[in-house]
Amino acid sequence: MAEVAEIKSMELVPEAFITEKVREIADIVGDGTAINALSGGVDSSVVTMLGHRALKTKLKTYFINNGLMRKNEPQQIAGLFKQFGVDVKIVDAEKQFFQALKGITDPEEKREAITQTFYKDVFGKLVRDSGAKYLLQGTILTDIDETIAGIKRQHNVFEQLGIDPQEAFGYKIIEPVVQLRKDGVRKVGQALGLPASVFNRMPFPGPALSARVIGEATPQRIETVRMATSIVEEELFATKAFQYMAILHQDKVTGMRNNKRDFGNQIEIRCWDSVDARIATPTQLSHEMLVKLAHRMVTEVPGVVSVTYNMTPKPPSTMEAV
Ligand code: XMP
Repeated sequence: MAEVAEIKSMELVPEAFITEKVREIADIVGDGTAINALSGGVDSSVVTMLGHRALKTKLKTYFINNGLMRKNEPQQIAGLFKQFGVDVKIVDAEKQFFQALKGITDPEEKREAITQTFYKDVFGKLVRDSGAKYLLQGTILTDIDETIAGIKRQHNVFEQLGIDPQEAFGYKIIEPVVQLRKDGVRKVGQALGLPASVFNRMPFPGPALSARVIGEATPQRIETVRMATSIVEEELFATKAFQYMAILHQDKVTGMRNNKRDFGNQIEIRCWDSVDARIATPTQLSHEMLVKLAHRMVTEVPGVVSVTYNMTPKPPSTMEAV
């Protein structure tokens, strides 16, 4: 297994990096075609722009709607990239993902179900239909580190686990930003001319909202965490924290509403200060903000009776709960 040579953000010369990667992608793909999945996160956005520069119409970009994304995300992202000249096709695959997640409660099994559905079923079909030989994807060095260390198997890491994508899925994977960490990818995004709303976008995990649901990710439980996420993102945007999220717990607790017992859901809020996601500390939110968040959760998200704020740094916590 080839060791990946890290390019530290401090040493990175974004313009030179872009020129080199655009050339590399063009050389590898040659006369063929490539496809990529854009989620709208900084990694896949940067890879989309690098691929677009290198391949123009020889790159087909898809937004896979797995049913696990945030409110209005598919349309927003496709609309935004249209402005940069990139035609993004939305692929509706909600049913396939929920079917694959049915009955699964173990975090790593959930990741595996998403990996298989994404790479084998949904992408496999797209590749077969399009005749593309290559998939461009935004794996970064932290994904590989955490997978190798056995902390969390990131959904997009294969080679380091001894999996040959060509054999397993029928296509090769090109990873133009694999030598970078998040801060480096942001620099490249800025140099590519992406707006700050994209290159400074908060990280969001590949398994999307299923990583924010402890226990089974059913359509209904995903909808609960989607509503909670929308509130957290609205309220905490101004903090400029590295990442903030809402998590739906598996255990229910006794609450009360209108003088009646209400056995309901618990939402945990996390808000992180971090540079590169390797270590992180909870942001010191004001008591007023915490009260406001709790109030909005119990009044706007049906079935929520308890709201907590995580106070544990990473490590020993991880940033996501799943
Ligand atoms: P953890 O939870 O491992 O998260 O402390 C570190 C950073 O990685 C993101 N994350 C993921 N990203 N696939 C991804 O693409 C995943 O499976 C995954 N799990 C966590 C997380 O949001 C945080 O920014």
